[in-house]
Amino acid sequence: MTQSSRYGAVAIALHWAIALGIIGMILLGWNMDNNESLFQLHKSIGITILLLTIARIVWRLINPVPPLPAEMAGYEKTLSHIVHGTFYVLMLAMPLTGWLVVSTSYEFDIPTVLYGTVSWPDLPVGFMSNETGHAIAEFVHSKLAWVAIVLLGLHVAGAVKHEIGGEEGVLKRMIPGLFGKPDAPSPPPRGFLPAFGAAIAIFLLIAFVPPLFSGAASSPSGAENVDDAGVNEEAFNPNWTVNQEASSITFSGTHDGSEYSGRFGDWSADIRFDADNLEDARAIVSVKTASARASKKLYTDSLKSKEWFDVEGHPTASVVLTDFQETDSGYTAEAAITIKDSTVTVPFPFTLDIEGDTARMDGTATVQRTPLSLGQTSDPGADWVGEDVNIAVSVEASRVD
Ligand code: HEM
Ligand code: HEM
Repeated sequence: MTQSSRYGAVAIALHWAIALGIIGMILLGWNMDNNESLFQLHKSIGITILLLTIARIVWRLINPVPPLPAEMAGYEKTLSHIVHGTFYVLMLAMPLTGWLVVSTSYEFDIPTVLYGTVSWPDLPVGFMSNETGHAIAEFVHSKLAWVAIVLLGLHVAGAVKHEIGGEEGVLKRMIPGLFGKPDAPSPPPRGFLPAFGAAIAIFLLIAFVPPLFSGAASSPSGAENVDDAGVNEEAFNPNWTVNQEASSITFSGTHDGSEYSGRFGDWSADIRFDADNLEDARAIVSVKTASARASKKLYTDSLKSKEWFDVEGHPTASVVLTDFQETDSGYTAEAAITIKDSTVTVPFPFTLDIEGDTARMDGTATVQRTPLSLGQTSDPGADWVGEDVNIAVSVEASRVD
């Protein structure tokens, strides 16, 4: 049986998806203008191209490609093979060097969240995470775009030359469904499972088996379980127990002009409060920093990093409430908030309703993030992430005697 002179449907689909992807990514890469959303989109599409390329390479190894037209000169065939081979290297090297750029970033600690949904780890290249390593990665990544453009020029010129040269032409081999039916039936496609299975397996391994990548990049120095917030400095007898199901600590602020919000899922509070003895009133709140969940996965992942909560080095943050006083609308206290190694004190006005042995307290405080050393590397001037963070605390507690 004569072999078809056309590529199969899967090879054609992969060719055009990746080709358009790369061309679009070069344009996007040149126009990201420090816009974090565009950076995230660039990284998401780039990793998709990497996975599609893996599928494409495995697919090609299993499914024969149509032979080049017989009338093509030998040197043209050689040139065509060189361009195609280099393209394959480039399709891997472009996303890999991009991934290297973000993995060697020594100054910023911005995570990669694919399509706002899947956390993507850095490559384990801690040894390269310095000015020189990062600069090399950036240099290679940006210059590869020019290699792609030169190759694309040769590639398209070759396709067009054979089309207008009155020869058999190659364009129809790669264009879906045009120029009539194939001259000979295509062999049945084989290898869906190995090709796409390999791509999916690699994706799952990297995204969901953390020790493979992220664990190796920056391992904590045995800092778990360290209660570094110094909240137990003085023992006192709490007389209220928090009902966690009916209580919450939430936070909100602005990022790039729009509001973000989130909540802490794991915290505890020791409260001593008696309206007739405010001098003795006190509350110590201990918050697990890793339990912060924000409205976007990118924010949740960012909060864990060193420049924000540094959850590995400082697993706990604390708030100590003292100096309680009655006001026209309820009460106010002084809240000493300790995050990492910084403490700031802000007023904490709140309302309180006590019915029998159950109390409901609702209060808010506004803190400035820079004195708490939050986000000081990527946005010290608060150009993107607003300086003010609003904290809302709603607690239901039962009296214990
Ligand atoms: C960055 C974009 C592109 C990349 C990375 C790329 C890559 C490739 C690769 C690797 C092959 C060889 C397939 C194989 O045998 O395994 C190929 C074939 C082909 N490409 Fe592209 N391509 C791109 C853009 C284009 C464009 C814009 C055209 C339109 C003219 C085009 C037309 C073709 C044709 C006609 C073939 C078949 C050539 C043959 O049978 O020898 N490609 N492409
Ligand atoms: C086919 C895939 C990709 C293409 C074609 C591509 C292309 C580009 C281009 C043209 C630039 C602009 C370079 C310059 O300023 O001169 C760029 C920048 C960048 N790319 Fe990619 N990229 C790809 C994949 C990735 C991936 C997978 C990541 C990360 C996971 C990534 C991360 C970055 C970053 C962080 C920058 C900014 C670098 C800087 O500020 O100098 N890229 N990319």
